[in-house]
Amino acid sequence: MCGIVGYLGGREAEPILLEGLHRLEYRGYDSAGIAVAHRGKARVTKAAVRVGELRELVGKGTGARVGIAHTRWATHGEPTDANAHPHLDAGGRIAVVHNGIIENAEQLRAKLVADGVEFASDTDTEALAHLVAAALPTSAGLEDAVRAALRGVEGAYGLVVLDVRNPGELVVARNGSPIVLGIGDAEMFVASDVAALVRYTQRVVYLDDGELATITTDDYRTSTLQAHRTAKEPTIVDVAEDDYQLGEFTDFMRKEMHEQPEAVHRALLGRLEERFATARLGGIGLDAHALRSVRRVKFLGCGSAYYAGQLGANLVEELARLPADAEPASEFRYRNPVVDPDTLYVAVSQSGETADTLAAVQELGRKGGRVIGVVNVVGSAIARECGSGVFLHAGPEVSVASTKAVTNMSVCFAMLALLLGRMRDLSVANGRRIVTALADLPARIAEVLAAEEEIAEAARRFGAARHMFFIGRVRGWPVAREGAQKLKEISYVHAEAYQAAELKHGPLALIDERMPSVVLVPDDDLLTKNIGTIEQIKARGGPVLAVSNAELPGGLADVVLRVPRTEPELDPILFAIPLQLFAYHLATHLGRDIDKPRNLAKSVTVE
Ligand code: F6R
Repeated sequence: MCGIVGYLGGREAEPILLEGLHRLEYRGYDSAGIAVAHRGKARVTKAAVRVGELRELVGKGTGARVGIAHTRWATHGEPTDANAHPHLDAGGRIAVVHNGIIENAEQLRAKLVADGVEFASDTDTEALAHLVAAALPTSAGLEDAVRAALRGVEGAYGLVVLDVRNPGELVVARNGSPIVLGIGDAEMFVASDVAALVRYTQRVVYLDDGELATITTDDYRTSTLQAHRTAKEPTIVDVAEDDYQLGEFTDFMRKEMHEQPEAVHRALLGRLEERFATARLGGIGLDAHALRSVRRVKFLGCGSAYYAGQLGANLVEELARLPADAEPASEFRYRNPVVDPDTLYVAVSQSGETADTLAAVQELGRKGGRVIGVVNVVGSAIARECGSGVFLHAGPEVSVASTKAVTNMSVCFAMLALLLGRMRDLSVANGRRIVTALADLPARIAEVLAAEEEIAEAARRFGAARHMFFIGRVRGWPVAREGAQKLKEISYVHAEAYQAAELKHGPLALIDERMPSVVLVPDDDLLTKNIGTIEQIKARGGPVLAVSNAELPGGLADVVLRVPRTEPELDPILFAIPLQLFAYHLATHLGRDIDKPRNLAKSVTVE
C-alpha cells in the first residue's frame, strides 16, 4: 500500500526511480511523483496519474544522482496532483515520501499552521516535511532532525527524507510500514518492497519498527528512534527480476494463476513424509510434545487470507479432530480476545505486512499466545514477528487479486492438519491417502487450468449479471466466499456468498432470472443436499452454474464446470481454481483493469 523508492549513487536517478515505481505500482496507483536534488534545489514532478504518464511528465532526466519517488494509495486527502507525494516543506528544502497514516496529523497540522506554516496539500505527510525542516537548524544533521520530528508523530510510517542542500545522504525510518534498503556497488536503494530493488541488487537490509537509517552512496547506518545504534547485516533475497516480468502474459493475475502447479509443487517440496504418512514442517519450531499439547487451532488473516484460514480450520477439524476456526485479524485485534495457552494461533498473510494481521500477532505476543506465521514474503514484518512458521514459497505475487498465494496457504494448512492429525487419530492409511493426493495436486490444478477456455465461455455467458450468489456447504463454504471475493474485487459485479442451507432463511427471496448462482457441488456425502439446493434455485427461475466433480443429473444446472477428482478433504483447494478463472474472464469480458482494480492496492499496511 503506497510504493516508495529512493536512490543515491553514481547513476542518473530519474530512470531508476521510475523503474522502481513501475515495479511497485501494484501497491497503489492513485497518483505518482518523484523529487530529485538538482543544483541545490528540489525538482518535483507529481500528479494524479499512473507511473507510465509520470514518466512522460518527467521527460529527459536532470542528471541528478539522488532522488525519492512514490506511488500512492490515498488515505488522507483525495488523489489530486497537490496530494501526490513527494511533499516539500515551505522552503522547498526537505522532500518526503511516506507510506502509512499519521494518526495525530490534525493536531500537528493545527500547531504548524498556528506557527505560520502554509500547507500546500491535504495530506498527513506534508506535516512531516515541515516538522523536519523546523527541527533541522537545531539538529546535528538530517537524521537527528528526522528523529526529532518523529518524536511527536503517532501512527504508522515508512518514509524517506531528502535534504536537497545535502544530497549525499537520505534518511529513512520505519514504524509499521515496510522499508528495505538495497545495497549496491557504490550506490544505495530504498524501497517499500524488494520488487523495486531486485533489478539492481539482491543484498538487502530490512528495517524494524522504530528504526531509522542514514544511507550514503557506499554505507548505511541504522539506529533506533532513541538514537541507539543497531547492527544490521545484509541478507540475500531469493527472488530475481524475472519473477516480476509478465513474459507471455498480458497481466499478472493470469500469469500467477498459471504458475499454480509450480507454486504448489514448491510448497510441498521436501515437506511430505511418505513413510510415516505425515508432513514435515520444521519451521514451525514446535516439537512433538508441544504439537500434541495443542487443544485448538485459530487462523487469523484478512480478506482472502481469512477465507483460506476458514478452509484451513475445516481441514484441521477433519484431519486432526481438533476444534478449529478462523477469524478476521482486523476484528481480533480490537475485541480484547481471550488468549488461550492451549491454542495454536496461525497468522496468515501473503505479503506479511498486513497491518491488521501484524497487530493481531503483536496482541498475541503481549498476551503470551503461541503463534506461527504462514506467510509468503520472507523477511516481512509478520514473518519476523512470529519468528516461526511455514513459508508459502508461492514466489512474488504482483496482482492485487491473490491467487497462487491463497492456493499455497490452503496447501500449507492441509500439511499442518495432516501433521496434527497423525499425532492424534488420523490413521496411516488415511494419512497416506492425503499425502498421495497432495503430491498429485499440481497435476490436477494443471488440468483445471487446461479447461480455461471452457471456463471463459461460461464467464462470458454470465457477463451481463449485476449480482451473483456463490453457494457452498461445509467444505464448499470458504470456497464460495473466496469465489465471491475474487469476482467482486476485479469485475465490480456484486457477489454474495451463502451457505447452501441458509438460502431458504432469507436470501432465496432475491432469486429470479437475473440472479445467477454459482453452486459448489463436490462429490461427497453432501452431494444430494447440494443437488437439492440447485433444484430450489432452479424452481425460482435462478440460472445456475454448477462446479462439480460428480455426475450431475442432466439438465440440473445451466452450465457445469467439471473439476478433477482428488480426496474429498482436498476438494476445496481444487474447487477454488475454476472460480479464480471465472472471475478473471468475467472481469476481462467487462474490460476491467485486472491487475489494478479500482480503490484497492496490494499489501494493506494501514488500518
Ligand atoms: C484478495 C486479496 C486480499 C488479501 C488481504 C490480505 O484477492 O488479495 O483480500 O488477501 O488483503 O493480504 P495478505 O495476505 O497480504 O495479508
